[in-house]
Amino acid sequence: MQTPFIRISNLTKHFQMGGTTVRALDGVDLDIPQKSFTVVMGPSGSGKSTLLYLLGGLDRPTSGQIAVNGLRLDEMDENKLALFRRQTVGFMFQSFNLIQSMTAEENVGFPMQFAGIPSKERTRRSKVLLEQVGLADRGGHKPSELSGGQQQRVAAARALVNNPNLILADEPTGNLDTTSGIGIMQLLADLHQSGRAVLVVTHDPRMVRFATHKVFLLDGKVVSETEYRAASLE
Ligand SMILES: Nc1ncnc2c1ncn2[C@@H]1O[C@H](COP(=O)(O)OP(=O)(O)O)[C@@H](O)[C@H]1O
Ligand SMILES: [Mg+2]
Repeated sequence: MQTPFIRISNLTKHFQMGGTTVRALDGVDLDIPQKSFTVVMGPSGSGKSTLLYLLGGLDRPTSGQIAVNGLRLDEMDENKLALFRRQTVGFMFQSFNLIQSMTAEENVGFPMQFAGIPSKERTRRSKVLLEQVGLADRGGHKPSELSGGQQQRVAAARALVNNPNLILADEPTGNLDTTSGIGIMQLLADLHQSGRAVLVVTHDPRMVRFATHKVFLLDGKVVSETEYRAASLE
C-alpha cells in the first residue's frame, strides 16, 4: 500500500500558560492522501491553527509523529524545516499577511529572494503568478489599494511561488465578503484540480462542497462528524 501524503500519529502540542498546560493538540491521528482537498472544521480553540502550523513546519510538536511526503517533520532540525517550508508548502492566512510597503508584485517576489533568484527573474515570475490568480493588472498596487479579495489573491500567488504541492489555508475567507470569499474558494479548488493537496481551515459550509476529506476537531482531538454534530447541538 502507498504511504499517504500526510501521516500524523499520536501528535500532541502543549503550551505552558502560567501554571497550566493547554493541550492544543491532544493525540491526533490522521492520514491524508495526495491530491486531496481537506476541510478542517472545529470551534474556536479546538486546535485547527496549531495543526496547520505543525503541518507547515512553522512550529514543532510536543510529541508524536508528523510526516509530509515521507518526510518526518518532527525529526528535522531548523535548517531542514526551513527547506521543507520553502519547497513543499504554501501558506494562506485569514489576515493575508502581506507587507504593506510593497506592491503586489514585490510581495509575491519576496519569498524568491531567499531562494537566491535574481530580481529580474523574480519580477517575471511574479507577473505570471499574479496573472494566474486573475490580478495581471494589479501588480503595481500596494495592499491598501486592493480589496480584501484581491489581497488574498496576492497572498495566494505568493503561496505558489515555489510551486508547492501542499497548500495550507487558515480561514482564508474569514475576512472577506461573500463574493470575494467564493472567488477564493474557487481559486483553492483550482489549485486542487491542478494536482496539489489543499488543506483549508474554515467555518464556511460552502467550502465543504469542494472537500474530498473532512476533519473535525474538538478539544485538540479528531472526532467523527456524528460526534462533532452532537457536540455542536449541546
Ligand atoms: N502560542 C500559544 N501559546 C499558548 N497557547 C496557545 C498558543 N497557540 C495556541 N494556543 C492555545 O491552544 C488552543 C488551540 O489554539 P488554536 O490552534 O489557535 O485553535 P483554533 O485555530 O481552532 O481556534 C487554544 O486554547 C489556544 O489558546
Ligand atoms: Mg485558528
